[in-house]
Amino acid sequence: MEKANALLVTGGAGFIGCNFVHYWMREYPNDKVVVLDALTYAGNVENLAPVKDNANFTFVHGNICDTALVESLLKDHGIDTLVHFAAESHVDRSITGPDAFIETNIIGTYSLLKAAKKVWIDEPKAKGEAPLPHRFHHVSTDEVYGTLGPNDPAFREDTPYAPNSPYSASKAASDHLVRAYHHTYGLEVTTSNCSNNYGPYHFPEKLIPLIITNILQDKPLPIYGDGQQIRDWLYVEDHARGIDLVLKKGRIGENYNIGGHNEWANIDIVKLVCKLVNEAFAKDPALIEQYQLATKANAQNSESLITYVEDRAGHDRRYAIDATKTNNELGYKPIESFESGIKKTVFWFL
Ligand SMILES: NC(=O)c1ccc[n+]([C@@H]2O[C@H](COP(=O)([O-])OP(=O)(O)OC[C@H]3O[C@@H](n4cnc5c(N)ncnc54)[C@H](O)[C@@H]3O)[C@@H](O)[C@H]2O)c1
Repeated sequence: MEKANALLVTGGAGFIGCNFVHYWMREYPNDKVVVLDALTYAGNVENLAPVKDNANFTFVHGNICDTALVESLLKDHGIDTLVHFAAESHVDRSITGPDAFIETNIIGTYSLLKAAKKVWIDEPKAKGEAPLPHRFHHVSTDEVYGTLGPNDPAFREDTPYAPNSPYSASKAASDHLVRAYHHTYGLEVTTSNCSNNYGPYHFPEKLIPLIITNILQDKPLPIYGDGQQIRDWLYVEDHARGIDLVLKKGRIGENYNIGGHNEWANIDIVKLVCKLVNEAFAKDPALIEQYQLATKANAQNSESLITYVEDRAGHDRRYAIDATKTNNELGYKPIESFESGIKKTVFWFL
């Protein structure tokens, strides 16, 4: 049997973090998992309900900027693997209030790196010992690469960084710090840059859950600009599987793109979600009873809620991920088809 690992998962009460924890505890039941989460507006401890009674699971309410707390967690739980999801993650919020993004995404990542270096490298070294076996995995985004024209090739790991929003700039800064801690101090790091995720537990300020929850309340479905912004969508569990492969097989110091070759214009995604909700209401009269405000869905007419609004400032036009390196080196391939993934997601929210 493989040796059990002890993971510290930051941001594990958020959308991708909680899906990763569910996945991990199912796949590796002997591993210990400690979640550190500040429970900001985006974090919800209920997202961890499926694992909360597992003896190998611990939840810690705290901030990644608290370096002393992180050091004590690394020591007390014998952590050998840190998977870093915690972030401020909503581009719109980064435009109206960038401070929290600088604090959590940059200073917070720096705090984790400092604690990891101290506990895994410096303290053993001071005792004349080798560094403790460790991995620091940093979860980043395709948004650090900037924006693409309609015919540009998709982002590769060697595409130069060109972040355009305070969110993506703060993520890019954190990616650089992670890289520097490897090159300067020998911290054993990997970074993954993933495309847009969708799936269960998504916070309803992001496009897909916002559309579903607004339909259920007969609220307008806001579409930025002309709705032709293109995003590359990946089912969240396929992201978790990609990180798993990077942890098990990735080369130290490397970046890996994770994506699903699944580009959609925002407006087309919204129309698809409307269609799926309409169909669900047509098939299941209990939904009409349950969501009495959803008169448009009940009338098979959710699309009539679509409302075009002023475009987001500096809105990136297109993101697309070239995951050839991750496919070839790690044998990565998404499992979920978009058709089944989006249906599962709509039904989960319903
Ligand atoms: N959502 C996507 O489509 C996507 C795509 C690629 C990469 N990413 C990256 O994946 C990671 C997770 O994204 P998400 O969509 O799950 O985000 P999210 O906003 O849903 O969750 C973030 C979590 O981090 C926690 N958190 C925030 N600040 C904290 C702090 N200072 N200390 C401790 N915890 C803190 C929040 O409480 C929340 O639980 C982020 O790093 C994001 O940049 C997201």
